[in-house]
Amino acid sequence: MSGTTHGHADAPHQAVFTGRVLARLEALFPQYPTKQACLLPALWMVQEERGWISEPAMAEVAEVLGLTPAYVKGVVTFYTMYHTHPVGRHFIQVCTTSPCNLCGAEAVMEALLRETGCGELGATSPDGRFTVSEVECLGACGFATPIMINDDFIESVTPERVAGILQGYK
Ligand code: FES
Repeated sequence: MSGTTHGHADAPHQAVFTGRVLARLEALFPQYPTKQACLLPALWMVQEERGWISEPAMAEVAEVLGLTPAYVKGVVTFYTMYHTHPVGRHFIQVCTTSPCNLCGAEAVMEALLRETGCGELGATSPDGRFTVSEVECLGACGFATPIMINDDFIESVTPERVAGILQGYK
């Protein structure tokens, strides 16, 4: 059960690509046609290290890969999997697309918002543990309602199961 590193929006930017992280990125370069093509994995590294991708971090990625900050920002904001603001240690995604909605996804989402203390979608719980987000089809429509907590995929979630599931994420 992996969790992201917690970060604050107003904390000064500390370079991500130094030492071990820079070495990991540079080790990828020979596997891609150009170093610019390493953008998506570079962004994952930032998110692993910091929990989210700030504007200064986007600028750092741009510099390391020889891209413009505007291009990097365009890619970050295109993909919902990248966080552009701080999130809780455990990022929860719940499918609320029609098939799951018909099977009670809305009630699961409400239970998640209540039991985590987040209160609303996109907000972080006061203890910093959770952020809940709704997503489109997670590809498990036969097992409504599926949720993801960090990289863990959990099927057939009901409102009654939510509290027990959350206990596994401190
Ligand atoms: S609609 Fe929910 S997993 Fe497909």
